[in-house]
Amino acid sequence: MTKLETVVLESERLHLRQWRQDDKTPFAELNADVEVMEYFPSTLTRDESNTFVDYCSRRITERGWGLWAIELKPSAEFIGFVGLEIPNYDLPFSPCTEIGWRLARRFWGRGYATEAAQVALNFGFEALALDEIVSFTSVLNERSQRVMQKLGMQRSDVDFDHPAVAEGDPLRRHCLYTLSLERWST
Ligand SMILES: CC(C)(COP(=O)(O)OP(=O)(O)OC[C@H]1O[C@@H](n2cnc3c(N)ncnc32)[C@H](O)[C@@H]1OP(=O)(O)O)[C@@H](O)C(=O)NCCC(=O)NCCS
Repeated sequence: MTKLETVVLESERLHLRQWRQDDKTPFAELNADVEVMEYFPSTLTRDESNTFVDYCSRRITERGWGLWAIELKPSAEFIGFVGLEIPNYDLPFSPCTEIGWRLARRFWGRGYATEAAQVALNFGFEALALDEIVSFTSVLNERSQRVMQKLGMQRSDVDFDHPAVAEGDPLRRHCLYTLSLERWST
């Protein structure tokens, strides 16, 4: 039987794969980019970025899925991550499995996030047999919401305050998008 850890998912232009040590430098660069991190409370230091890679890698090893490293097929160039995660803090709609994404600035606008996310959704609904996958972001992050909309996700009527964002921070108000198995199947 194939070890889940070694499974590489793919779309037409992308591989979704386990992280490698040599992803750490380009990932730290994108996490230090203020434009990429505009809708997060802060950019990440190199150490914080490396810790994130180690966490994602460990979760994929343990469970066979998670926030996958994304690389371009012809060049094998690392461009960021897309994948599934169970938030490790309480949210008004917990428990849930979320889909998330973060790509280096120069790779935006080519449909890569949506393309990789389609693969992650397929994995979530088919391999993991999930009933629902959610996504959430600052109400100000229209670019990320556009990806959610393109995936067929529906915005919940109720916005919420993200518990990890400080009170008074304009990024605190978040919107929730959901996609049910039923809707995804049709
Ligand atoms: C969000 C992100 C992953 C999108 O990646 P991407 O590969 O450019 O996404 P896609 O090309 O698949 O789709 C982007 C869509 O947003 C649209 N868009 C771009 N800028 C926009 C803006 N300012 N407002 C609204 N829509 C916007 C694009 O036109 C495109 O939609 P279209 O195909 O209908 O034209 C990328 O911008 C990113 O990494 N951002 C920083 C990290 C982040 O915010 N992550 C989400 C946190 S929850």
